[in-house]
Amino acid sequence: MAERKGIILAGGKGSRLHPITLGISKQLLPVYDKPMIYYPTSVLMLSGIRDIAIITTPEDKEQFVRTMGDGSQWGVSFTYIQQPSPDGLAQAYILAEEFLDGAPSAMVLGDNIFFGHGLPTQLKAADARKTGGTIFGYRVADPERYGVIGFDREGMVTSIIEKPEIPPSQYAVTGLYYLDASAPDRARSIEKSARGELEITSLLETYLKDGVLSVEQLGRGFAWLDTGTHASLLDAGNFVRTLSERQGQLVGSPDEVAYHQGWISPEELMSRATRFGKSEYGRYLQRLLLP
Ligand code: TTP
Repeated sequence: MAERKGIILAGGKGSRLHPITLGISKQLLPVYDKPMIYYPTSVLMLSGIRDIAIITTPEDKEQFVRTMGDGSQWGVSFTYIQQPSPDGLAQAYILAEEFLDGAPSAMVLGDNIFFGHGLPTQLKAADARKTGGTIFGYRVADPERYGVIGFDREGMVTSIIEKPEIPPSQYAVTGLYYLDASAPDRARSIEKSARGELEITSLLETYLKDGVLSVEQLGRGFAWLDTGTHASLLDAGNFVRTLSERQGQLVGSPDEVAYHQGWISPEELMSRATRFGKSEYGRYLQRLLLP
């Protein structure tokens, strides 16, 4: 079976961050010491995925290429795909169909930050399910604001309800989706919603109907951060700063993941660390090479 490929969805309007996002894509904004897109990229790399498509708006594509390059600096490959207009998350699977070429996928939203102990294990569990799909649930205090997951004891999803008045659980659907090779075909089969988008929930419902949608619960002590509003973006930056200053460790760095995966050599890491030597980020990279 073809190896799982990655998709980072980094288009959209970013209208909740206006006027900042009039001139720059949301996913290129800083979350403390690095561009936002570094965080979801590091999640895919952590799960061993090296072939990744980055979906952007046509206007922002060049800036993404300048920021992220072809991936060789991290021993991975980036393919850039343009989304002409923000017609919904599920459209990503149609746009990426050729890139996926029959492979299963892991899609992450470019503005989602995941951080916590045990993530690689849960990603492996999702990867091991070769048919069907896996979503990742996160317990939130205010489930009414999210897509909420109902599930049984076996971890099979029984319902997903958008912004429910009476939530079936406290677990929100996060922006990370492991789907099998049938996702592009399924995405083609769904109808646009009232707001004119191909909704990810409608796509997930096709898996749900077939009884092949599982949920991995991200536990207590795990952080799933949104960066879509001014306040949440600032909070995310402060969270990353607090953790990295306290522990002297990077959070969400593709450089670090690439090095630990053995995809880049100590010399290659050193060359990145030297290049960024004047920044805190570069100094952290240098420290990675210490015993
Ligand atoms: P959203 O946060 O739902 O939308 P947005 O980023 O356009 O922001 P706003 O609500 O402030 O206008 O999108 C979640 C992620 O998916 C985000 O990384 C943008 C991306 N996205 C696309 O790439 N294409 C799309 O068609 C949509 C709807 C979102």
